[in-house]
Formats: sequence, C-alpha cells, structure tokens
Amino acid sequence: MKKRTVRQLSDDELRDKRVLVRADLNVPLDDHCEVTDDTRIRASIPTLRYLLERGARPIVLSHLGRPKGKPDPKYSLQPVAKRLGELMGMKVGFVETTDTDEAMKCSNSISTGEVLVLENTRFLGGEETNDPRLGRALSALGDVFVNDAFGAAHRAHASTAGVCEYIRPAVAGLLMERELDYLGRALASPAHPFVSILGGSKISGKIDVIAQLLPKVDAMLIGGAMACTFFRAMGLETGTSLVEEDRIGMARELLDSAGTRIILPHDALVAPSVERPDVAHAVARNAIPAGEAMLDIGPRTAESYSRAIAAAKTVIWNGPMGVFETPPFDKGTLAIAHAMAEVTKRGAVTIVGGGDSAAAVAQAGLADSVSHVSTGGGASLEFLEGKALPGVEALDDGEAE
Ligand code: 3PG
Repeated sequence: MKKRTVRQLSDDELRDKRVLVRADLNVPLDDHCEVTDDTRIRASIPTLRYLLERGARPIVLSHLGRPKGKPDPKYSLQPVAKRLGELMGMKVGFVETTDTDEAMKCSNSISTGEVLVLENTRFLGGEETNDPRLGRALSALGDVFVNDAFGAAHRAHASTAGVCEYIRPAVAGLLMERELDYLGRALASPAHPFVSILGGSKISGKIDVIAQLLPKVDAMLIGGAMACTFFRAMGLETGTSLVEEDRIGMARELLDSAGTRIILPHDALVAPSVERPDVAHAVARNAIPAGEAMLDIGPRTAESYSRAIAAAKTVIWNGPMGVFETPPFDKGTLAIAHAMAEVTKRGAVTIVGGGDSAAAVAQAGLADSVSHVSTGGGASLEFLEGKALPGVEALDDGEAE
C-alpha cells in the first residue's frame, strides 16, 4: 500500500491551513553552532515551497542531536532556522519555547506566506518515549500533518509517529515520497543487472541488509573492513585489520549460500595504521602482511568493481570502501562514486544510502550526478532491511496501485 502524499491533498485542504511539517533538520553544527552541512535543510525546502505556493502556513518540527529530553542550548534549532531562511530567501520565524501552549499561540498567529520553525522536539520529555500526551499536544499545533523526515522515519517518536494518532490528514512530504519511491522501486522491481555495493567496518550492522538484498541482486560487491571478516572465513590472514571474530562463522555461511553473487576484493591497500598513509601499498588479498591493516580496497578491485557497476541497470551503495576521510585510503570509495556517476549518465538508476557513503559522494562533488542520495542513514538501512518505518506506517494510506 502506498502512502498518501501532500500532492494528493486538494488546494482547499491546504489553503490557509496550519501545516505541521516534520522535517529531519538534524544537521552537523560546529563549535560556534554554525551549520557545517546544510544538505538536509536544502532537501526540506521543496515541500515548504509547495505548501507556501498553495497558501498554506507551514510550521516545522525537527529534532537535532541527542539532547536527552531537556533543553540544551548547543542543540537549539535556531541556527538551522536561520540557515533555512537564508536558503529560502525569506524570513523564517523561530519559536524558542518548549512549552507547547506557548508554541500553540505562535502557531495560531502565523500568517500566510510565513514559515515557522519550532524548537528541537528532543527538548521535550515525551518525544523519544512517544508519550501520547505529547503526540496530542503537537497535533494541536496544526490542521494537517506532513511527514517529510525520512531520516527519522525509523524512530517511533511523538513527532514522527505518535502525532498521527490525533491529526488527519497525515501525509508524506515530497522528500519522503522521493526517498520511498527510489528505495522501494529498487527493492520491488529493479532493472537488472542489479548490483549492490556494501562497505563499512562491520558485517554485524549489515547482516539484515545482506540477507534482504542477496536474493534480489545479481552481484553484491563487498568493501571496507567488513571484507576482512569474509577473508578470514576463507582462511586468509588479515594482519591487524579490523575483523569481527564472532562473525566469521556467519560470513562463511553467507559465502556458502550466495554462490558467486558475493564478490570480495582481489587486492587491498594496506598500511601499518591510518596515520601512515605515506607507506600505503597495494597487496593481493592473500598477502596482507602481519602488522598491517587493510584500509581500502586495492586498485585492481576498484577497477573490477567499476566495471561491474558500468554494466548495471540498478545500483545501491551503502558504506565506504575504506577510510575515505584520509587519502590515499579514499581511492576505492571515490572510484565507486565515479563509476556510479558514469553509469547514471547511461540511464541506470543509482542510489546512495545515507551516512558515510552520502558524505563520500558529496566529497567527490558527485551528489548531483547519481539518481538519488538518501538523506537517511539509519532509516535507509532499516528500509533496505525490509523493516517497516513507524513514521511512514502512521501516515494515511494512499491508493493501491
Ligand atoms: C539521523 O541523523 O540518522 C537521523 O536524524 C536520526 O537521528 P538519530 O539517530 O539521533 O535518531
């Protein structure tokens, strides 16, 4: 069942209405509380503009960081509201209070053409416990609810799921719709060849994704330190590389069941530590020296993975191939980003899961060269694991296809 979206609301359902928009404006701030990456703020703008164009009065809710249920100035949404205003080229109001009665007065006085951002929902005690009293109080701030916070949709919190018990219509925003469309279509009806690339340090966090994707993909390319747990399952030595000893058995089972679909690096870029990039060198996977660690896939692997991606019609990527923050251990990850951008030009659907892989694509300047970069880290992972997302489940059902 698809969820109803803001595009399916009539103009009458929006004109002059206070529309409570749950966005994920959880962005990084520096020590001076300046926004250091505004990707999520930018991603929330199309829905806000859509609402403004239809004469609605958007009131934005979001969390920021993990302030533990009480106000903490370093997690205030004020700088985020300021940045939103700059990006939209308009004044965006900010309501500092965490008293929902006070917030109510402000939400009632918002005029058409204005946007109001309320203070961090995680300053409120009942947010993370999904206290129904808070869900009800939040619902009173709007006439319509739009959930555009894909990045927080895996959290059953008062402002994502609980609020929907008390407000209708409750629909998906444009960003939420786009995220669900891209990820949902890739899982349900991918064009083949379908290639997934999984990286990162641990198999343990990706087991469910591997299990979900393996039956659907034509090839699963593995990178990152998690490749080393597979190497150990094959009886190879991995030096001082990060290995999940307690997952070696599971890695062996996966290799046995997957046939040739799980593809492991042929070579590795190794060094004594990440602090010694000056002595990094490539070795075959069966020649990782004692005292050195795999910190990236090797050049042969980068080439063969790029070839596999070039032949694909659908590609999903989650997790870096190495320690991409430190050159030259970024080469494998950047090669994947470039291969994805190239195959996108030839019509493939390419999706980058959020978190580190999204940061890597942005670092390569290729965020606009792939089909979709998810704004959700944990949320996209849970979606790919086949789990229901509470923030989505709680929305109105749309028309069955
Ligand atoms: C994220 O950054 O992944 C989302 O905003 C969710 O944040 P959380 O992990 O603190 O719930």
